[in-house]
Amino acid sequence: MNVHIEEAKKQLMKNGFLDLEIDPSLDLFAEIEKLKKEKNAVILAHYYQEPDIQDIADYIGDSLGLAQQAEKTDADVIVFAGVHFMAETAKILNPGKKVLLPDLNAGCSLSDSCPPHLFAEFKKKYPDHIVISYINCSAGIKALSDIICTSSNAKKIVESLPQEQQIIFAPDKNLGSYINKTTGRNMVLWNGACMVHEIFSLEKITKLKERHKEAKLIAHPECEEAVLQIADFIGSTTQLLNYTQKSKDNTFIVATEAGILHQMQLLSPEKSFIPAPPDNACACNDCPHMKLNTLEKLYLCIKYELPEITMEEMLRINAKKPIDKMLELSRSLGII
Ligand code: 13P
Ligand code: SF4
Repeated sequence: MNVHIEEAKKQLMKNGFLDLEIDPSLDLFAEIEKLKKEKNAVILAHYYQEPDIQDIADYIGDSLGLAQQAEKTDADVIVFAGVHFMAETAKILNPGKKVLLPDLNAGCSLSDSCPPHLFAEFKKKYPDHIVISYINCSAGIKALSDIICTSSNAKKIVESLPQEQQIIFAPDKNLGSYINKTTGRNMVLWNGACMVHEIFSLEKITKLKERHKEAKLIAHPECEEAVLQIADFIGSTTQLLNYTQKSKDNTFIVATEAGILHQMQLLSPEKSFIPAPPDNACACNDCPHMKLNTLEKLYLCIKYELPEITMEEMLRINAKKPIDKMLELSRSLGII
């Protein structure tokens, strides 16, 4: 593995990730642990990552938990096992640290559904509105926003604002309409959505519920309204996980990305978790972006300290303001 760093950089330019040969006899778990200590690195992972990555991570969480960890870490290097907007958020909060993402192509369909130049035009139509953006958006959208939220604090943040305050909510129309419904607001919604949460089949879920009458349907608020309407519990990934742990029920149909089933099963080995069926032939609901990261890419990323997230300073400063506002509000509302 004596590959020169320049060669690694060329590889990266071509693929967005390092694709170098790894000695098959290497124990990647042990090597990653060793590199973490040598470099004072921390691995932050989202619940949608593959099980091996979740098992080696220093912290696993939802978007709010990950942002908080990124804010308070004293590591020199943050390896973000998640998607681009998450690593970008870590960089926005930590300009002096090296933030790495195992595969730079790990994007997000929801974030992509809201390009900053189009959103800037949209925003001009509502001069009296403030902008609340879901954290699943680019730094460009964050810089155009007043407050960032995640699925675990969106409702409380919206409720904390005066009733007469007019709001644009971007980019997720499903989360936005769920918040409108539960708070009685009439926020203007950007028409974006997540490809994973939009693909669940109401018909197949209904049939599954009939077959497993004892099962509770738990759903992420990025799902479409029809699925949310029949859900027994709605929440962010951490909230769904906590619910399965605390609940007296033993069987759950889980309407979110299937990666979280690994933690659910680890924390409640005696309970059963059934992934909600999507409306496609492969019967899987993996996020293709999240699943671009692999243990091999994570190892190469920490070894070569590439690919690195970089950002123009003015954009970082403007994108940081609404994230700081979210963290400040979350603290004062007792959410974190
Ligand atoms: P949370 O983990 O914050 O619920 O977000 C879900 C998601 O879709 C992340 O991409
Ligand atoms: Fe984006 Fe959806 Fe994948 Fe989350 S699950 S990263 S919102 S595409």
